[in-house]
Amino acid sequence: MAVIYATRSPEISEREKRNMERSRRIAAQGMVLLKNDGVLPLPADGRKLAVFGSGVRRTVKGGTGSGDVNSRSVYTVEQGLVDAGFTIGSASWLDRFDEACSSAMGVYMEKISALIREKGPAGFMEVMENPYRDPDVPEITMEDLTGADRSCAVYVISRNSGEGADRKAVPGDYELTEREIQNLEALTAGFEHTVVVLNVGGVIDTSCLRGMDGISAILLMSQAGNISGLALADVLTGKVNPSGHLTATWAERFGDYPSAETFSYRNGDVDDEYYLEGIYVGYRYFDSFGVTPAYPFGFGGSYTEFAVTVKSVELQGGDVTVSALVKNTGAKYAGREVVQAYVSQPEGSLDKPYQVLAGYAKTDELAPGAEQCLTITFPVSSLASYDEEKAAYLLEKGEYVVRVGTHSRNTHIAAVLTLDETIITEQLKNNLVPDCDLSVLKADRSAFFTYDGEAAEKEKAPVIAVPASAVSLFTAVYSGTPEALVTDKTEKVTMQDVLAGTATLDDLTAQLTVPELADLCVGTARGGFGSQSTIGAASTACPGAAGDTTSALLESRGVVNLVLADGPAGLRLSPSFVADKDNNIIPGLGQSAFGNMDQLLGIAKPERPSDAVDYYQYCTAIPIATLLAQTWDLAAIEEAGDIAGEEMEEFGVTLWLAPGMNIHRNPLCGRNFEYYSEDPLVAGLCAAADTLGVQKHPGCGTTIKHFALNNQEDNRTHSNAHCTERAIREIYLKGFEIAVKRSAPLSLMTSYNLINGQHSANRYELLTSILRDEWGFGGVVMTDWGTTGGGGFDAPKEYKYGNSDTAGCIKAGNDLTMPGSQQDVDTIIAAVGADPAENPFALTLGELQACAKRVLALAEKRERAVRR
Ligand code: BGC
Repeated sequence: MAVIYATRSPEISEREKRNMERSRRIAAQGMVLLKNDGVLPLPADGRKLAVFGSGVRRTVKGGTGSGDVNSRSVYTVEQGLVDAGFTIGSASWLDRFDEACSSAMGVYMEKISALIREKGPAGFMEVMENPYRDPDVPEITMEDLTGADRSCAVYVISRNSGEGADRKAVPGDYELTEREIQNLEALTAGFEHTVVVLNVGGVIDTSCLRGMDGISAILLMSQAGNISGLALADVLTGKVNPSGHLTATWAERFGDYPSAETFSYRNGDVDDEYYLEGIYVGYRYFDSFGVTPAYPFGFGGSYTEFAVTVKSVELQGGDVTVSALVKNTGAKYAGREVVQAYVSQPEGSLDKPYQVLAGYAKTDELAPGAEQCLTITFPVSSLASYDEEKAAYLLEKGEYVVRVGTHSRNTHIAAVLTLDETIITEQLKNNLVPDCDLSVLKADRSAFFTYDGEAAEKEKAPVIAVPASAVSLFTAVYSGTPEALVTDKTEKVTMQDVLAGTATLDDLTAQLTVPELADLCVGTARGGFGSQSTIGAASTACPGAAGDTTSALLESRGVVNLVLADGPAGLRLSPSFVADKDNNIIPGLGQSAFGNMDQLLGIAKPERPSDAVDYYQYCTAIPIATLLAQTWDLAAIEEAGDIAGEEMEEFGVTLWLAPGMNIHRNPLCGRNFEYYSEDPLVAGLCAAADTLGVQKHPGCGTTIKHFALNNQEDNRTHSNAHCTERAIREIYLKGFEIAVKRSAPLSLMTSYNLINGQHSANRYELLTSILRDEWGFGGVVMTDWGTTGGGGFDAPKEYKYGNSDTAGCIKAGNDLTMPGSQQDVDTIIAAVGADPAENPFALTLGELQACAKRVLALAEKRERAVRR
C-alpha cells in the first residue's frame, strides 16, 4: 500500500495560515521603493481609492511554467487594499478588463487545445513558448474616475513570463503600451498624486514613468506569492516600511545593456549565444563603461532616512571586517537599512571592473533615532580574479579600495587594502575553454564611474597592508576514473543492512547488477505512465511533483523511491488528487499541477470509484526568488526555505527542484524572476540561505539549478553558450560555488544548453572536475527534464545542436537522468563495457556504480530521517 502524505481535509490548515503570515512578512521586506515624494505611506482611512492597471485583480503572484506554485488562493491587490480598509473606486473599469481577459483566454485555450491534441506533450512545449498573455488594458474614461477620492490614484502594472520563452523589448512586455501611458496621463491629470506599483518579475522600461509629472511614487512590489495583495497593502499603508533594494541594474533604456543586440532571439540566432560582454554583467558593466542607470544595483528607498558611518575596517587573518553604524535619522517611521561593501581591484595583467560587491548586511527595524552597528566580513581571497593563462585565481598586487554605502552608486571609500605582491589563491586547470575565438569587452579605466570628492576620500582613507601570508593557496586535486566497487559479502545486502550498520553502501552498490544500477540512475517516467506524463508533473508517488527516483529496488533491496518537486516560489504539487481505498492514486482525477492540462491533452477522466477518497496538498506560494533576494536579508530567505522544507516534510518530498540561481545576464530572460540577481555573490548567498532553511528538515534537500549558463529561454534546450572561462568562473559559476561551499545542497540540476560546444549535462570538467574536485560537492547531480531527448519533451523542430546523451551523463558524473525513459535505461546498459572506439560514452562499471552510489546515499539519508 502506497504511503500518502496528503491530507483528507479540504479545510485550510493551521500550517497554511501560519506560512502565509510568514510569507507576508518576508514579501513586504523585499518590495523596493523606487520613488516617493512623500505621498506614501497612504493612510488606511477607508477612502474610496481609484486603483487601475493590469495587476489590480489579475495580480501576478509569480511567473508561469514549472516555477508556478498551486496555492489555494491568491490575494490580489484589490483584495489586499479592501482588507486594509479601502473601498475600491474603480470597479467598473476592473470589470471591463476582466471581460476582455476572459474572452482572450477563451480564444487562446481553443488554439492551444487543438495544438496539444495534434502534437501531444510536444505541443505542450509550444504552449510554454507561446504562453497566454492578457490583452491590453481598457481606456480609463472620465466616468471611471467619478466617485473616487481625488487625492491619490494607484496604477498597478503587471507583467508575466516563464520558462521556454524570453521576454520581448516591446510594448506590453518590457515597455509600457500606448494605452498604459494614456491611462497614466489621465490619472496624473485627474488626481493630485499617482502611485505606480510594479507587479513585475523583472526589469521594465521606466523612462516614461520617470518623465511623467504627477507620478509621485513608484513601488516595485515584484511578485509576492499568494499573499501578494496583503503584503503590498502593508507597504502602501506604512504598516511595513519598505526596505528592499534592487538586485539588478534597471537601465535607462534597454539598449544600454551590453547584450541588448545579441541576446537570445534579438540577432535572429538562438542556436549560438556569444557572451561577448565577458565579466561585464550588470553593474560591473554600467559602472565601468560610463553608463548611468535609471535605478542602480543595490538601490532602494524608505519612508525614513538613515545615516551610515563607517567605524572601522580591519584585517583579521585573511578576512576583512567592516563595521558601520546605521542611524535612523527620520522622525516618524521605523525602518531597516541595507549596508553594502564594494571593492575596486587594482589594474594589473587582468582588466577589472570599477567595483564588485564584497559583502552586505541589513539592520533590524530601527525606531526613529535608534542606531545599530553592522559588521560585514569577507575573505580577501574573494577579491581574486581568474587568469586563464595561469589557470589560477590571482590577487594581483596593488590597491583594493573598499567602498561602503547603501547602493552601488552611493558609497564612500572606507579603506584601501594594499598588496605588495601578486598571490595565487587557487591553482586549478582550465576546464571550460571556449570553442571559438571570443573577443570580449575590456574596460578602459577612463570611463569608470566617479563622483565628486572620490580622489580626496581615497587620499584620506586608512591603508591596510595585506601580508601575502594572510591568504592560503588551494591546489585542486582532480580525480580519475572511479575503480569498480567490490564486496566480500556473499549474502544479499539490502538498504536495511546499511541502515543497521552491518553492511556499507559500497557493499550494496557492488552487489547490484548493471540493469539495477541503470535503473537507479534514471527517473521513473517510463512506458505507459511516461507517455501520459507532462513535463514537470511526472511523479507517480506524489501527484503534481516533477518526478521520482525508481522504486524498482524497493522490494528486492529496500531502496525507497524519492519524490522531487518543483519550486522555487514554493512547493509545486497538484492541489488535490483522488485515491482508491487501498491508497492507489487514480491518475486523472483531482486537479492537475498544470491547471487543465489533462483536459487539453484529451486525457479522459477515469471513472471515480464509489469508495474513492479525496486528498489535498495546498502549498504556500512564497515570493519569487528576485523578491527574496531584494530583501538583502539572509535570515528572511532562510525562513522562506524553511517554509518550503516544512511543506516538503508534510508531503513526503525529498528534493525541492530549487532554488534557481542563474545570473540575470539580460532583463529579457524569461526566467529571471526565478533567479536572484545579476551579481554572483548575492545569488550564492541567497541560494545558500534558502538551502539552509530547507535542509533544517531532515531528509529534505535543495537542488540548485540550472548548472550552468542557462541565461536564455528561447531555445534553452539546444543553444550553445560561448563564453570565456574567466567569465564562466567569476560570473556564472561563482554563485553555485558559494552555495555549494556554504550550504552543501543535497543536489544540483544541470542545464539543457551546451557550454562551449558540449552539453553541460555531459560535461565531465563541469560536473566532476569543477563541481566535485574543486568545490567538494558531495550530493547528487541530475539532468533537467528531458535533456537526453525522447519522452516527447522536445518541440517538434530541427535543432542545430542535438540532445545530450544518457551514458554521457553518467560518464560526466551526472547521476540521475530525469524524468527518465526506458530508452535512457537501455542506453546506459548498452554503454557499460562498450568499445570506446565505437561509443564515445562507453562506461566502466566503476563509473556507473559511482553515480548509483550517490543516489543510494540520498535514499539512505531519507530513510534515516524518516525513521528518526
Ligand atoms: C525546468 C526545470 C524544472 C523541470 C521539472 C524543466 O522544464 O527547466 O527548472 O525543475 O522542468 O519541472
